[in-house]
Amino acid sequence: MSSRDTLPSANFVLSATALSQVPQDPRPHIVIAGRSNVGKSSLLNALLGQKKLARVSATPGRTQALNFFLIDDTYYIVDLPGYGFARAPVAVKDAWGALVDEYLDTCANVSAALSLLDCRRNPEDEERMLWDFFARKNIPFAVVLTKTDKLGRGALNTAAKLVTETTTADIIRHSTEHADGRKELRSWLERHAR
Ligand code: GTP
Ligand code: MG
Repeated sequence: MSSRDTLPSANFVLSATALSQVPQDPRPHIVIAGRSNVGKSSLLNALLGQKKLARVSATPGRTQALNFFLIDDTYYIVDLPGYGFARAPVAVKDAWGALVDEYLDTCANVSAALSLLDCRRNPEDEERMLWDFFARKNIPFAVVLTKTDKLGRGALNTAAKLVTETTTADIIRHSTEHADGRKELRSWLERHAR
């Protein structure tokens, strides 16, 4: 499938607060993971061209459930709760909650992931653990540097280079403030939604 400019259709399906509520049909899931406040919900809204589909908040830790959005009736995007909110130096598992952990570990429909990283932050333990986890599980993922409107080109290149020292995953730059990375992101999703 070639990349396109038209927006995919998207519908909010449900918020899962227990594993039993996760949709059971065989459509693939692409998860959006990242530190609290990194811009997961904002990216989803920008991607789908809808201002209020996913809830955006200035208060970190707003998204508490696994939020399922059905895209073009063919795959789900899952807006995961943010990790690292407590800022405690503990494992992703503890900081992020047992639900996310169990879901990622047991759901066979997770086909790919976007790991969001604020372009002004360096990858930390949580990101490294997450990337290791995806690699171990053979889940293809891309690192999305978010809020790229906050840095100049040189600093962005430095940030991207730092990520390449930790992982060979694709790196996509994204900002909600301009169209940067939007098309690339859509084409990445289309390629991995199977
Ligand atoms: P949680 O659900 O709490 O984990 O947060 P989240 O990762 O979903 O972040 P959210 O989308 O709610 O955005 C957090 C804050 O960052 C909001 O104030 C957004 O307006 C802001 N934000 C998100 N993306 C961008 C961006 O590309 N540029 C700028 N300048 N601000 C952004
Ligand atoms: Mg959110």
